[in-house]
Amino acid sequence: MIDLKSAVRVLRSGGLVAFPTETVYGLGADALNEKAVARIFEAKNRPTFDPLIVHVDRADNVRPLILSFPPLAERLANAFWPGPLTLILPKSSLVPDLVTSGLPSVAVRVPAHPLALGLLQAFDGPLAAPSANLFGQVSPTTAEHVRASLGNRVDLVLEGGPCAVGVESTVLSLLEETPVILRPGGVSLEDLQEICGKVRIPAPNEGAALSPGRLEQHYAPHTPLYLPSDLPSFSTGRRPRIGYLAFQNDPADGMYERVEVLSNGGDLAEAAAALFAALRRLDACGLDALVYEVAPEKGLGRAINDRLRRAAKK
Ligand code: TXA
Ligand code: MG
Repeated sequence: MIDLKSAVRVLRSGGLVAFPTETVYGLGADALNEKAVARIFEAKNRPTFDPLIVHVDRADNVRPLILSFPPLAERLANAFWPGPLTLILPKSSLVPDLVTSGLPSVAVRVPAHPLALGLLQAFDGPLAAPSANLFGQVSPTTAEHVRASLGNRVDLVLEGGPCAVGVESTVLSLLEETPVILRPGGVSLEDLQEICGKVRIPAPNEGAALSPGRLEQHYAPHTPLYLPSDLPSFSTGRRPRIGYLAFQNDPADGMYERVEVLSNGGDLAEAAAALFAALRRLDACGLDALVYEVAPEKGLGRAINDRLRRAAKK
């Protein structure tokens, strides 16, 4: 039995509850309680310059958190909520500055997982929640991943099975005339274009000026990850043990110690859902290095490639 009552009690007393969403597991705290929010940063070792996403159970409950709900935001909310889209909008004074790292804008979304919605309804308030992993590490897509990463730094973990989408939400800024994708994610560029028309994808070097979370090195496994063309030579005196993270094609040439294939049929949604767990399994093998196959740069492939590029050694 999932104990939502205990979870709500923990949240009301300023504690941390990890909960499943359709994207990844979140580490939740009462978004309007600054002390509780501070515990999120502490538990994750997350720098306080990286702001959090505020989760609500329905679009109407975003209103008190923002200054206004522009028509484009309404259209996007109608099209994609509940779902893996985060909108950046000017914040109201209700949202503590720590949540937004002092920015005048706030990130909001309605998650699609029934347990996340159940928790938000039972708590009856907004929850600030980053991915439930230590800062910079691979995001958790199972409750087991959360426990392995955060252990007793989290008061309660709600078990909701593996996450269906598997990569984080798309972060879309509505602060400028043309919407800007700050992080590719579970809602694809193509889907957004259908609702917004024009959407801007910033150049990688626009970086932190747009969103503190646009760090180039992120989501990193412990084992160094490379594009095959970037793999350095090893002077270990023995043949290096290398793992291969394939999007679709098993290289099957005996060069790799271990191979993970994300989707034999080349299905982008299936590959995204499998990505972080496969990366963790490879990371647990104690290999010298990992290399990866790039996914097609379309649909969810953009989010997959973004995570792999940022997980890779430069
Ligand atoms: O799918 C998801 O979005 C998951 C689940 C738990 O909802 N959450 C998640 O949170 O990925 P986190 O903290 O790992 O990523 C939040 C991203 C960061 O890159 C952060 O910099 C950006 O959103 N962000 C938050 N508030 C922002 C703001 N006001 N302006 C620009 N970027 C913001
Ligand atoms: Mg994260």
